[in-house]
Parts: sequence; C-alpha cells; structure tokens
Amino acid sequence: MSSADPQGIQAFPEALTEPDAWLEPFEWYQEMREGSPVRYDPARGSWDVFRHADVKRVISDDETFSVDPRNASDFVEAGGEGEGLILDTMLFQDPPRHDELRAIVEEAFSPRVVAELEPRLRELMGDLLDDALATNDGTMDLVDELAYPFPVIVIAEVLGVPSEDRAQFREWSESLVAAADGEAGAEVAERQQASQREMAMYFLELIEDRRENPRDDLLSTIATAELSDGSTLPQQEALGMCMLLLIAGNITTTNLITNAVRCFGNHDLFAELAGEENAIGTAVEEVLRYRAPVQAMTRVARSDVTLGGETIEEGDRLVAWLGSANRDSRQFATADEFVVDRAPTGHLGFGHGTHYCLGAPLARLEARVALSELLSRVDGLALADTDLSPTRSSFIYGVESLPIRYDAA
Ligand code: HEM
Repeated sequence: MSSADPQGIQAFPEALTEPDAWLEPFEWYQEMREGSPVRYDPARGSWDVFRHADVKRVISDDETFSVDPRNASDFVEAGGEGEGLILDTMLFQDPPRHDELRAIVEEAFSPRVVAELEPRLRELMGDLLDDALATNDGTMDLVDELAYPFPVIVIAEVLGVPSEDRAQFREWSESLVAAADGEAGAEVAERQQASQREMAMYFLELIEDRRENPRDDLLSTIATAELSDGSTLPQQEALGMCMLLLIAGNITTTNLITNAVRCFGNHDLFAELAGEENAIGTAVEEVLRYRAPVQAMTRVARSDVTLGGETIEEGDRLVAWLGSANRDSRQFATADEFVVDRAPTGHLGFGHGTHYCLGAPLARLEARVALSELLSRVDGLALADTDLSPTRSSFIYGVESLPIRYDAA
C-alpha cells in the first residue's frame, strides 16, 4: 500500500480491472448485491459491501466503523512524509477530533455562504466558455476546456491561492487519486509521495505568510484557527486541511460535470434542459445517484460485527460501494434507469452521516452553473465520441476526456 493510499482503496477488484468494466461496473454491482452482498476479497485483503442499507450503515455508524486506516490490523506505516498529513485530516479522523477540525471550515462551505458565490462562479464559467469557443470550432474536449479548470479555479479563489498555479494542482490531484496497482504501481506510488511533498512545501509557505499577515480568505481562517482548548491548529494539520480541500473537490467536481454531460447526451436532454435552472439542479442530483463521481469509500471495523450474515472482525477493512448502493432496487424504483426528474432521496453520492461531504453545496452549485452556462451558450450540443477512457482510479468515477460537438457561431 502506498503512503498516498492509506485506505488501501487503490487496488481494483478483479472484476473491474479492464477499462471497459470500470466504465460500466453496474452489472457487476448487481451480481454482487444479489449473490454476495457482503464478501471478503483475499486479493485485496478487504470486505466489499454492496447493498444500500449496509453501505449506509458502514459509512455512518461511527461507533462500529472507523475512518482511520491506522485501526486496520494490517496497517503498515509506509513512512512517506505526506502520510501523516493526510491521515490527520477530518476525512480520516473519527469524532471528537473530526468534529473539531470540520468546525474550522464548516461555515465557509455552508449553503448560505456558498450561495453568495453564484455570480462570481457564472463569471468564471463565462470566461472559460469565451476562451473555449474562441479557440475551438465546433468540437472541444469538455474536460480540458471547462470541467477540469472550473473547480480548480473556484477552490483556488476560495482558499486564496494564486490561480496561476492551477496546472500544478491538476498534476497533484490526479497523481494522488491514480490507481497504484498493476505494473506501474511502484512508479505511481513514488510519484504520489513526491506530489505530497511538493504540495506540503507549497502550502507551508502560504500558511506561514497568512499567520503573519491574515487576509479575508480561507487559508487565513485555517492558518489562524483556534481549537477549543485555546491552542492554534498545529501547522501539520493546517497543511493537511489545505491539501484535503484541494484534492477532495477537484477531480470529483470535474467528473460530476462530465458525467452529467454524458448522461444528458445519452438521453438527448440538452435542448430540454437549456434555460431550465431548477430542472438542471434536479438532474444533477440524479447524476450523483446514477454515475456517482465517488463510487467507493473505506472503513475499518472497530469491533467484531455481523453484517449481511458475515462476521467481520475488529481491524478488518471494508470497502462500501456507494455506486452500488445508488443502484439498489430496494431503495430506488427502476434503479438502472437515468430518470432526469427523479429527484432521488437517499442517494449516497456525497456519503452520509458524520463525514457527509463538506463541499456538497459548492459542488452542486458549480455543476448547476457549469451546465446551465454551457447549455445557454451553445446550440446543437451532442456527444462526439463514444470510445471513452475511464479516470484511472478504483474509487473516483468519470472519463479522462469527453469530446462534444456544437454548432459553431
Ligand atoms: C467527503 C464526495 C466535492 C470536500 C466526501 C465524501 C464523499 C464525497 C462521498 C464522504 C467520505 C467518507 O464518508 O469517507 C464528493 C463528490 C464531490 C465532492 C462526489 C463532487 C461532485 C467536494 C468539494 C469539496 C469537498 C467541492 C471541498 C471543496 C470534502 C471533505 C470531505 C468530503 C473535506 C470530508 C468530510 C468529513 O470527513 O467530515 N466527499 N465530494 N468535496 N468532501 Fe466531498
């Protein structure tokens, strides 16, 4: 396991190792949900959980399941410099430490504060569209031109880091979620450690600067945060928090926008949705269910527990398949159909419980703004290629590029 993969999530189950399988893992999920809803995979040293009710329990029952991989009986410290940084973030901390860390940034990502960003987000997306339409003539790659740069620029602005550094952010965030298995595994793992080191040095300088000269940005909030005992947030944890915010919200939101365009294109919905702000918001929710950008999350059993008739021992690892839970017909009627106005309740695309995605309001807003601006600016929109390559990650779900066609002005 690499230091950037403390969860041990970055190995594909055997059934999903081929790119085509990872583009459409849903039949395999169904087979597992019906035949082996809770099963142990010796190759990955982990349990897999597939049904909605079980997945929801595993990700939200903090008493029984921990997010901290250090509780796994097979946890080996990889010793990479960045390891502790990531493991000490809220994502891998159980309450009460989790709650204290999350409280520092909760306000900045609240629906009320995020809603105020809408005009600026429209302006940013408008600029990206201006550039993309000026440099392309009837076809473009949605990912490169719009869906990738948009969330990076937004989070850079929210944090207060220079947006010129965004090419660098892309490299770091892609490297950290890449699958570190197969032949290239060692090389990928080495690159992941290098990325963590580089990110750490980068943010260290910015945090130092904000401690001395606080500004009106999130970096300053983090750099000067006070904990309940009156102490300031240790530098290492401040660093980890910055890295987490950068990584957690980029490729995920890129893939939400891209997966949405893929769904809309496949169901001939572009014209129907153009100009319909509310309908687009509802459609984004169905995309989060139907092609969730995060397909899986991990936990470690804190005590012996029975789940789906299987006995899981204290210290065992579990992978909770959010993407499978979202297709469970026990929870959703016609679960394998994309129903644009379904307004699904209970999807697990942003998780559930204590660790429910902090960035959910921002991600929803970004997706709605990106899609509504795109649909209002171009006519004749269609998918231009059906030969797609998946994001190379066993838990992040999307495609590397999505060529689209439109009527050139
Ligand atoms: C947590 C998905 C965007 C920050 C999570 C979790 C999921 C998720 C499934 C739960 C993890 C768990 O239970 O172990 C997504 C998706 C996104 C997205 C699908 C985009 C479509 C963002 C954005 C940000 C963000 C934009 C911030 C800028 C976080 C953080 C956590 C988290 C900090 C950890 C929360 C905690 O441990 O309390 N996200 N996320 N995410 N997300 Fe997101």
